[in-house]
Amino acid sequence: MEQIPFVRNAWYAAAWSEEIGRDLVERWICGVPIVFYRREDGTAVALEGTCPHRQYPLALGRLKGDHIECGYHGITFGCDGACARVPGEQRAPAAMRVRAFPLHERGGLIWLYAGDPGGADPAKITEQWLGTPAWTAVHGTKILEGRAQLLIENLMDLSHVAFLHPETIGNSSVAETPIVTEVLPDCVRATRLMKNIQPPALFAKFGVSARIDRTQIAEFHPPYMVLTRATAASTEPGYPTLNFVVIHCVTPETATRTRYNWAVARDYALDDPAVSEAWQTGSSWIFDQDVAALNAQEARLQRLPADHIELSIPGDAAALAARKLVKQLAALERRAPVAAG
Ligand code: FES
Ligand SMILES: [Fe+2]
Repeated sequence: MEQIPFVRNAWYAAAWSEEIGRDLVERWICGVPIVFYRREDGTAVALEGTCPHRQYPLALGRLKGDHIECGYHGITFGCDGACARVPGEQRAPAAMRVRAFPLHERGGLIWLYAGDPGGADPAKITEQWLGTPAWTAVHGTKILEGRAQLLIENLMDLSHVAFLHPETIGNSSVAETPIVTEVLPDCVRATRLMKNIQPPALFAKFGVSARIDRTQIAEFHPPYMVLTRATAASTEPGYPTLNFVVIHCVTPETATRTRYNWAVARDYALDDPAVSEAWQTGSSWIFDQDVAALNAQEARLQRLPADHIELSIPGDAAALAARKLVKQLAALERRAPVAAG
């Protein structure tokens, strides 16, 4: 699998709201170190995380009000990235500045626009469930020591759940049911409709033990968002119907390290902490299994020759369509370079 260059003109889930406060936090996004903090009024700020003077990480400096003071020679930058002060100098040089990134905070997530700030329209953020009254959600983060594309393709080919997650959400009905793949202008969708099947083990924790009709729709929204829309309706009366959306925010940190911010939103049992706990524990267990598999894949890719041949099967259609879309977007950006900001 080739390395696909980063797509920068996009919103990336940078952090959960509770992770950013009055301490300096560094996160890499698309190969760029970025320092995050909150102003005194609570608004989140993201600045390029490397001091332009001598490359000291700004996250090792300190906050002075809303400004950030480099911990090496004390040059100070404002929330807009402009230099506010050079110790011992009368004037702050205009060229001494760092890039400020557009942010949008909603539903407990802080989104960062990594490209040309002119394109930073929050309406383009696909996520629409978190923080809305009709839904409740659990969430978490995993770190993948591997390229983002591995995770995208894992999420777009859910036949793997039968083999990687047999104790929770997988059983043979998933792998044996054919997929319908649609390549739409702005998304790739893989739909699997499973009729009258045995429920997977995790669903028993939600009180669904009769046979079910199960729907599983994997949607890729380029460049790095995948949604799993799922339902499980019992074929017999007296059992709850599960309806949930798994929001997979895939944020490439570097070419071989990826931040995976995930959430499971549901529109049933909104106030039931036991259901939330089962989703939290079950999801974290499942995603640990994915991360372990993808880490093994990345380690293997690193050691194989670049011309190693990969063979695909018809079930890979959605994953391959997603790969093609990312490559097209990356190529488009390389023809029209992103402004420095
Ligand atoms: S490296 Fe930041 S002030 Fe010198
Ligand atoms: Fe998985």
